Amino acid sequence: MERIVSPNEPKLSTAGQESLPPLSIGLWRHRNVLDLDDFLSDEIALVFEIADGMVEVLARDVKKVPTLRGRTIAIMFYEPSTRTRASFELAAKYLGADTVSLDSAKSSVAKGESLIDSLRTLQALEVNTIIIRHPCSGAPYIAAQHLQTSVINAGDGCHAHPSQGLLDLYTIKRKFGDLKGRKVVIIGDIMHSRVARSNIWGTRSTGLHVVLCAPKTFIPQGMPEMLEKCGLDHVSIEHNLDHALEGADVVMPLRLQKERQQSGFISSIREYVRLYQVNGERLKKAGPDVIVMHPGPMNEGVEISHDVAYCNSSLIEQQVTNGVAIRMALLYLVSGVRN
Ligand code: CP
Repeated sequence: MERIVSPNEPKLSTAGQESLPPLSIGLWRHRNVLDLDDFLSDEIALVFEIADGMVEVLARDVKKVPTLRGRTIAIMFYEPSTRTRASFELAAKYLGADTVSLDSAKSSVAKGESLIDSLRTLQALEVNTIIIRHPCSGAPYIAAQHLQTSVINAGDGCHAHPSQGLLDLYTIKRKFGDLKGRKVVIIGDIMHSRVARSNIWGTRSTGLHVVLCAPKTFIPQGMPEMLEKCGLDHVSIEHNLDHALEGADVVMPLRLQKERQQSGFISSIREYVRLYQVNGERLKKAGPDVIVMHPGPMNEGVEISHDVAYCNSSLIEQQVTNGVAIRMALLYLVSGVRN
C-alpha cells in the first residue's frame, strides 16, 4: 500500500532517520476509539508501529513534535483518574496540540447541563478530538453518535478502556515479542473491570491464552456462553489462583472496584487476600520469565503485596510509560493529519 507522507509528520529519530518508518496508514479506518472489539489485528499492529516511533520521541531531551500543531484536544473526565488523564494530556502536548481539560465537578455539568449539551459545546468550540471518561457504560458511544468530532473512550463504567487494553498488550509484546502460547492471568474483580473486557478483545488473534481467575461472584453470569458466542476461545475461567498461576507468563491482578460494586461480592477483605492476593509465595508458581502488570491504581496489601508490586518482574511503571506512546499513536491516527 502506498505510503501517504505528511509535511507535519513527526521526526521520529535523532539519529539520521528523519521520518516515520514506512507505514500503511491507509489501513486506519477509525474516527473514534470506543473499544477494541472492532479493531483488526493489523490495526493493533499499526498502533504499535506508530507507538514505537513515539517511544523514540519520548526518549529525546525535547519531547515535542509539531504533528498536531493547530489542533485542540478536549479531555472530559466525569470520574477520577491519575494515569489516563495525565498521559493523554502529555501525549497531546508532546504532539504539539492545544488541550482543554474539564472535570465534571468544575464544569457546567454541576449546574445540570447534560452530557450531550456539554459535548456539543466543545464541538462548537471547534475541538478536534474529545477524550471522555464516564461512569456510565456506553456514554462515549452516545457522544460519538451525536458528534462529528473524534471521540476516544478513556473508560466507561464497567464496559471498556481501549487505550489501557492497547498499552497492556504493547507492554506484553515489547517484553516477549512472539506471543504464541504465552499465558496471561487476569485476577480479581472481572465483573466490574473495563480493563479486563478491553484486554479480552485486544488479545484475540494474538496467540495469547487468557485465564480469568476470580471468585464465582466476580465472574459475570453467562460469561462462558458469551465468550463462546463471540468466538473468544482464547479465554478460560479458573477459580483457584494457585492453579491459574502455574506457568503464567503475565500476572495481572485487578483492584476491587468498590465504586462500581454493590455489597456482597466477597465475604471479607481478609478472606479475599487469603485466596486471591498475588504475593511472593504465589508468584513462584508462575513461569520463569513472568512479568507482573497492574492497570492501576493499586491497593497494595489487597490484590497485590508490596513486594510483588515492586519486584524485578514488575512492569507496572513501564505500563504507565508505554501509555503515553500508545495515546500519542491514537491521537495521531484519529486526527486525520496525513497530508
Ligand atoms: N488505569 C487507569 O485507568 O488508571 P486511572 O484511573 O488512574 O486513569
